Amino acid sequence: MNNRVYIFDTTLRDGEQSPGATMNLQEKLRLAEQLEKLGVDCIEAGFPASSQGDFEAVKAIAEKVKNCQVAGLARCMEKDIERTWEAIKNANYPRIHTFLATSPIHMQYKLRKEPEEVLAMIEKGVKFARSLCPVVEFSAEDASRSDKDFLVKAAATAINAGATVINLPDTVGYAIPSDYAELIGYVIKNCPVSDKAVFSVHCHDDLGLSVSNTLAAIGAGARQAEVTLCGIGERAGNTSLEEVVMALNVRRDLFHLETGIVKEQLFPSCRLLSMIIGKPIPANKAIIGGNAFAHESGIHQDGMLKNRETYEIMTPQSIGRISSDIVIGKHSGRNAVRSKLESLNITDLTEEQFEQIFNAIKALADKKKTIHDEDIESLVVGEVYRMPD
Ligand code: KIV
Ligand code: ZN
Repeated sequence: MNNRVYIFDTTLRDGEQSPGATMNLQEKLRLAEQLEKLGVDCIEAGFPASSQGDFEAVKAIAEKVKNCQVAGLARCMEKDIERTWEAIKNANYPRIHTFLATSPIHMQYKLRKEPEEVLAMIEKGVKFARSLCPVVEFSAEDASRSDKDFLVKAAATAINAGATVINLPDTVGYAIPSDYAELIGYVIKNCPVSDKAVFSVHCHDDLGLSVSNTLAAIGAGARQAEVTLCGIGERAGNTSLEEVVMALNVRRDLFHLETGIVKEQLFPSCRLLSMIIGKPIPANKAIIGGNAFAHESGIHQDGMLKNRETYEIMTPQSIGRISSDIVIGKHSGRNAVRSKLESLNITDLTEEQFEQIFNAIKALADKKKTIHDEDIESLVVGEVYRMPD
């Protein structure tokens, strides 16, 4: 079995569906550039048929990103698929991601279709997508509440129609790791053409189990994980990219699997997202939260001084956290501000923009005793990154 797990980032699509996380075109392009640097295998840039704005953002990202795949989401119908292709066709590595629900409740109430009609729609939609694009992913929406033998049929239909990736999402965050692993394993084992596709996992965090479910599915043979930075997404969110990547990395003794992620870019990527959407990272968030590497108790501090591994299972440096004790205030000079910006991974300012930020920091320092990293990030977003739509 292949030992590579592909990382499919959907921060710009499912993540953006998180209330209050909308991003403008400029912000999406900036994040896409960072995701490329992070080393994700595929960026799901949006849902082109859902709005003109999404179409334009996906198109711009597809034209800008050079080194990884760019996917657009489409319902399993020709007009959506055609629109998606229009948006991504200039990408170096385009992918059409089409989906249709397979659970009894979705088929009966949402789609109002019989299971046989759903299979026919999958066949037609995937065939059409494949006639346009060499890489086609099919998602069986609400897979975790679908009948497992019907899922086997849906997966086989999609693969025979040309799908190269089959995603079995836990759309409503209902799965429990052991059951989900069993379901994924069952479909892979019983689908007669499963060796012709990569199986993928996509989880939501309604029960706080998205990372556990994702790891369980990987253990059962899934080789693509669909994730978002900081776990942002619909309702309680999606699976957090940084948590899955570090779990696979720290516990490679168990998984024996690799990703293509540049781990040192994890923290800078999450900080950039938090800065763009204007939502702070909770202090107790795994891997990237302010307290994730803080040691408060005397016993822990003593242990850390003797050997860091007594209480740390990874180093802050391994995920790109630079501990910086530079305190910015009204007496700070340009060098200190420059070095602080670098520690926050803000390295793309022109000289003119730097001067603008430097002056804005000075003006703020006259009014405020302590300038926090978040203050500086907000100034950069307000003065430089946030362009009108
Ligand atoms: O949660 C879900 O089922 C989705 C699909 C569109 C993949 O986001
Ligand atoms: Zn989703």
